[in-house]
Amino acid sequence: MSSNEHLKFSDLAPFMGAEVHGLDINQPVSVDTFAILRRKFSECSLLLVRNQNLTPTSHIAFSCRFGELEAHVLQDFCLDGHPEIFVVSNIKENGKHIGAYGGSKEYHSDLAYIEQPSLGSVFHCLECTEEGGETAFVSMFEVHDALPEERREWLTRQKAVFDYPWNHVKRNAHRPPLTEKQIADTPPISHPCVRTHPETGRRAAFFSPIWIRNFEGMSEEESQPILDELCEFATGPAFTYVHSWRPGDVLIWDNRSSMHKAMPFDEVNGRRLMHRTTICGDRPYLDS
Ligand SMILES: [Fe+2]
Repeated sequence: MSSNEHLKFSDLAPFMGAEVHGLDINQPVSVDTFAILRRKFSECSLLLVRNQNLTPTSHIAFSCRFGELEAHVLQDFCLDGHPEIFVVSNIKENGKHIGAYGGSKEYHSDLAYIEQPSLGSVFHCLECTEEGGETAFVSMFEVHDALPEERREWLTRQKAVFDYPWNHVKRNAHRPPLTEKQIADTPPISHPCVRTHPETGRRAAFFSPIWIRNFEGMSEEESQPILDELCEFATGPAFTYVHSWRPGDVLIWDNRSSMHKAMPFDEVNGRRLMHRTTICGDRPYLDS
């Protein structure tokens, strides 16, 4: 019998996240055990498995259990020979960054700017600093439920226009400009601001401080103050779990019900190296 048949869970925060005990991702995981993991993942948005020594191959194989994997629009930052693994790092080799650096310090859900935003990500920590570099998560299930009723009803009727190239020009001046192909691959896209989680049926707020240019039918100038108000509400401590990384951590998050951001660390003297796989998702929808 596989060693992975007796999983236990403990809460990371009362409102989101669970640590999984008794799981070795390098070992086989049965269909029944994976179904338990999957259910917990969908319900609490975030699973943590500590002390995992993953190879790129085992990282990819485990991630594939959740669905098909994406290749990131920034192919320069994918691992050689493993385009499914997106490297997030401040480390330079031969004068060149080996991964996406300066990580997103603003809340977002990964790839929310494409037609079918990713279902989730599997993040593996290979190196991190003792201080700083945490990842903060927000439960968008909780945000949805806690919004003032009038604002929740308003949001439920809205769609927002996500625009990756617009945001890249506005916020990512430290990164190389997008190529014409990258721009062509990421046209503006509208998504509902409240979405139904396809596996639990629970509603989650779906907005982001970055990538949203405007709400449909409203100008950028009219939209941004409301977006600011929503983001201020969502990102307070009531709905936030801050994860302090240890090497060997694997964190699996559900982009359909959460946002996350990187916290700062000493990027000059510290070393941080993370591998991320990204699982393909469906187009967001809202059940009536
Ligand atoms: Fe991200």
